[in-house]
Parts: sequence; C-alpha cells; structure tokens
Amino acid sequence: MNLVDSIRTIPDYPKPGILFRDITTLLGAPRAFRRAVDELVQPWAGSKIDKVAGIEARGFIVGGAVAHQLSAGFVPIRKTGKLPHETISVTYALEYGTDAIEVHRDAIAPGEQVILVDDLVATGGTAAAAVELIRSLGGTVVAACFIIDLPDLGGADKLRALDVPVRTLVSFE
Ligand code: PRP
Ligand code: ADE
Repeated sequence: MNLVDSIRTIPDYPKPGILFRDITTLLGAPRAFRRAVDELVQPWAGSKIDKVAGIEARGFIVGGAVAHQLSAGFVPIRKTGKLPHETISVTYALEYGTDAIEVHRDAIAPGEQVILVDDLVATGGTAAAAVELIRSLGGTVVAACFIIDLPDLGGADKLRALDVPVRTLVSFE
C-alpha cells in the first residue's frame, strides 16, 4: 500500500482554501499504518531512545505506536489546561493570534534522548514550541518525525534551523 494514496485530502476544511490532509484513512488501513510507523522509526531501530513526545491530538496516535516500536516511554504534549500535574508551557504564534502547549515538568529528565512525533508539519510553529519544551527540561531532541510535510510552509526547514534533524515520509507541495 502506497502511503500517499492512503491519505485522504478534504478541500476547504476547516476553512475555504485549505486542503486538509486527513490521516484517518491511513490509520484505518492496517498495512499502511504499520508501514508508516516502521518507516518513521527505521533510522533509530536498535538505538537507545528514552522518550517519544507526541503532540495532541494526532501526534498521540502516531507517537504511541512509535514509542512502542522503539521500546521508549511516551510523553504527551498537550494544549493548555489538560495535564493534571505541574507543567511548563510555551506560547507560539498562529496565523491569527497565539496558542500554547505544555508538558509535565517531570516527564523528561535531563540528558534523556527524545524523539518528537506528530502527524504533520506545516509552519512548524507547534513542533518548534515542543522542541523548546523538551530542551527546557534538559532533554536532547534526537529528531522530529512526521508522516506528512507541507514543504511550502517551511516547517521542516524551521526545525532544521534549530538543529533538529527532521524525518518526513510524504510531501504535499
Ligand atoms: C495540526 C497538526 C500539527 C499542527 C501542524 O494540529 O496535527 O500538530 O497542526 O501545524 P504547524 O506546523 O503550522 O504548527 P492541530 O492544531 O490541527 O490539532 P489536532 O491534532 O488536535 O487536530
Ligand atoms: N495542520 C495544518 N495544516 C494542515 C493541513 N493542510 N492538513 C491537515 N492538518 C493540518
């Protein structure tokens, strides 16, 4: 099963002019889901990765599977107000306004090797904020992995400029 063909595109969602890349069809196709996870982790098979950090909400699905595959722990990075224990948070710019994400303060220990996972990188604002959270806790961001890259929006380049190796599987120009 070709990964590109397993991703559905919905025009004008959630607003006019947006081509929404919908991974629910990939997740629902057993071979495509396994292949996406296997290909994402392939460079780190056999490496010691302590934690996989997944970004709410779609990054939880992909990141949980990646963590299992690498025998790593899973760390949820959430929109504000959802984590019950003490957190640190970072605010980042959106097209209009700002948003914030947070992580439990004790979720990553200094020196831990962390892979960041989400389904898709667009502007890279969310992932760059997640990198800031992981580094604030003393974690090393080994790489950021995404099934989908929207290269026209520059997110992968933005992460590379932060010295984060980036792995993506499918690009939509
Ligand atoms: C989407 C996607 C990434 C982010 C990418 O999540 O899953 O997390 O946008 O955009 P960026 O690179 O421009 O920051 P969304 O905010 O739609 O949340 P969801 O996963 O809860 O639907
Ligand atoms: N997040 C940001 N841009 C997106 C897009 N075009 N499709 C799906 N998720 C997104």
